[in-house]
Amino acid sequence: MVLEPFVYQKNNSYFAQVAENVEPLAERELTALGATQVNPVYRGVYFTATPEALYRIVYQTRLCTRVLAPLLHFDCHSTKYLYKTALTIPWVELFDREQTFVITATVSDSKITHSQYASLCLKDAIVDQFQEKFGGRPNVDKRNPDLVFNLHIHKNTAVISLDASGASLHRRGYRQESVEAPIQESLAASIIDLTQWDGERTLIDPMCGSGTLLCEALMRYCRIPASYLRESFGFMRMPDFEPETWQRVKAEADAQIRDLPEGLITGSDAAKLAVKAARINLGQLPYGKEVVVRTSRFQELEPISNAVIVANPPYGVRLGAQEEAAALVGELGSFLKHKCTGSTAYLYFGDRELVKKIGLKPAWKKPLSNGGLDGVLAKYEMY
Ligand SMILES: C[S@@+](CC[C@H](N)C(=O)[O-])C[C@H]1O[C@@H](n2cnc3c(N)ncnc32)[C@H](O)[C@@H]1O
Repeated sequence: MVLEPFVYQKNNSYFAQVAENVEPLAERELTALGATQVNPVYRGVYFTATPEALYRIVYQTRLCTRVLAPLLHFDCHSTKYLYKTALTIPWVELFDREQTFVITATVSDSKITHSQYASLCLKDAIVDQFQEKFGGRPNVDKRNPDLVFNLHIHKNTAVISLDASGASLHRRGYRQESVEAPIQESLAASIIDLTQWDGERTLIDPMCGSGTLLCEALMRYCRIPASYLRESFGFMRMPDFEPETWQRVKAEADAQIRDLPEGLITGSDAAKLAVKAARINLGQLPYGKEVVVRTSRFQELEPISNAVIVANPPYGVRLGAQEEAAALVGELGSFLKHKCTGSTAYLYFGDRELVKKIGLKPAWKKPLSNGGLDGVLAKYEMY
């Protein structure tokens, strides 16, 4: 088999997946991490990068959930053609049959309409090539695969990629304990990014739940790489992986980690179990044990002045719970107004209707989604 270079090898091009409305933030982040020809599109960013910049991006991005290295692009109007073309990729050169894999797939505006069936055809092409060459095949492992491949078909153009991140990058590894309705780590990172908090003022989450916003604020201030707790990345399975470059990139990023000044980040929650979860999660990260988290209703906190307040109030899905959530948000509005003068608050509402219940005028509102829920982040200045 004459080996054609893969698409990413020809032009160093990659694609980062991000949540809706996070594209401009991700464009800035990717550029700062060394990406070039950065081009944001709906829920993603195209960019080019050297291997060094690619490893740095995958290790440090707080906002992107996956980074894909395209192997092959082609026009694709049928699953038969998808199977046939997928067979031209030298899968047996890419990995061993003892390794496991999984396929993530998305299909839109195309003759092929079912992403699951399309991914089944790609899986068949992969295993049939192994069967023919070795008389044995690699297995699919949905939980902990060695390799993740991505199939994206849009307007009858297919792209098959190797996922250079591996498992989704929002899984930082610090979440050991959870509470009801935690926010996703990359959403929390987007919220912290939008606050533009730089450590000049104290940051407080008075409804911290399992501490996701606190963990992301800590990682940002202390410059802890987002994937600091991870050992394995998809780029390690790329055929041209450069282990020494990766070791250098990691060492350079880890050398940037800095101390947390005492009292700079604090949190509280009404629920004891949430406080316990937040302490455990923070404790996974460098300096996390220095973030003081206590049990208290926000209504009983001492006045907070000149701070940055971030919070994600509960929202109810059921009717009774909706009324309760609305009343609580009203109380939060009055707490901010009367006890937090000189502070700036950023509140993430899982339900947009709740913004109307706070009784404060937002300086701005930005839509941000959380696992399929249409939430909104609102900024309030308390003079
Ligand atoms: C949506 S959860 C926050 C989730 C959090 N952002 C996370 O990622 O884990 C809302 C939190 O508000 C807390 N809460 C409800 N009423 C409160 C009150 N009066 N004072 C302080 N916390 C309260 C709940 O215990 C819950 O942990």
